[in-house]
Amino acid sequence: MHPAVRPGGSDPVAAGSAPSRRSGVSPFYVMEIFGAAEARRAAGLPVYNLAAGQPSTPAPGAVRAAATAALKSDKIGYTAALGIPPLREAIAEHTRDWYGIDVPRRNVVVTTGSSGGFLTSFLAAFDVGDVVAMARPGYPAYRNILASLGCVVSEFECGPGMNFVPSVATLEALDPRPDGIILASPANPTGAMIGTDALAQIVFWCADRGVRLISDELYHGISYVGPAPTAWQFGREPIVVNSFSKYFSMTGWRLGWLLVPDELLDAVDRLAGNYAICPPALSQLAAVAAFQAYPELDQNVQRYRNNRGLLLNALPAIGLSRLAPADGAFYIYADVSDYTDDSLAWVRRVLLETGVALAPGLDFDTVAGNRFARLSFAGDTGEIEQAVEVLGRYLTR
Ligand SMILES: Cc1ncc(COP(=O)(O)O)c(C=O)c1O
Repeated sequence: MHPAVRPGGSDPVAAGSAPSRRSGVSPFYVMEIFGAAEARRAAGLPVYNLAAGQPSTPAPGAVRAAATAALKSDKIGYTAALGIPPLREAIAEHTRDWYGIDVPRRNVVVTTGSSGGFLTSFLAAFDVGDVVAMARPGYPAYRNILASLGCVVSEFECGPGMNFVPSVATLEALDPRPDGIILASPANPTGAMIGTDALAQIVFWCADRGVRLISDELYHGISYVGPAPTAWQFGREPIVVNSFSKYFSMTGWRLGWLLVPDELLDAVDRLAGNYAICPPALSQLAAVAAFQAYPELDQNVQRYRNNRGLLLNALPAIGLSRLAPADGAFYIYADVSDYTDDSLAWVRRVLLETGVALAPGLDFDTVAGNRFARLSFAGDTGEIEQAVEVLGRYLTR
């Protein structure tokens, strides 16, 4: 390889030593807050963690027992690229139980977290240059994965003016009409949910226009206003993305699943085998037992419900009264513009002065996110109570 010369300088730089342009995506700013919170904890200072996007509970007991048994009896080798048949069957049954729809096992694809599912499904559904629309605020990895794959991300405003819920009217207004749309309900960071009729209209609108809908259903099972419908109740064109991370309380097991339309199955199979060989075998063997654990998992949801009630009561009294719906998931997205127009600097300061760790809105919205912060209520109730108290003293001083 020929050395390249830096413009204006004489230092030789080996050609190819620079990172690719496609890797220039933004970091998760909240990770910096996590790091600072951990450093505080290590120094013996108090920390109230409302930044974590994960349950504070471990995997259900039945899953941990199944993992222990599998370690003794199974060699934990590679599995089929699309997942072990008993797990695919258990997910198909779960889909029947929860939504009353029959999904053939062949359409259920196990993935390495939903994050691995996004990669596989975006690659299977979209080409370089395809336009994919997503809501702003929204989960930042959609934008960053799509951009790194060479797709054109088209963000549409989905803020307080529309109560954070997209509709067919929102999609109809998109110009140019995208090749794909990714929607989450319940959504991160807002907890907003798309109603049953509205979701049906969106699925029909996309199907009629050949727009591929990716339906992120990661927070299903965690909702406070009735169960969330799946996009597959209204058609088999969408790709449904789901995961064991949130309701099933298994973030670190890195296991998710897709419901894949027939016409994409071969593509997903080829890509999955090449990109990851298979999802983690031990996690798959253990996750078969997850569907016995609804009572234990519903207790977690009851705790989230209590925490949510506590925050929705207490936050207005401490000066945070403009809040997104929080109908599902375990987040409250709060307008903090009375205190800052720089959410990252603000959450850094709040952590430094109170020990309360929050996620900056900037992670979820590069336009209006500086006016917002996300509070997670997935944690311990006592810690959340203390967080409200110290944050209240700080904001009302
Ligand atoms: C909306 C949403 N989708 C996807 C993910 C990724 O989750 P995982 O890869 O653990 O399944 C997250 C994680 O926070 C999320 O909030």
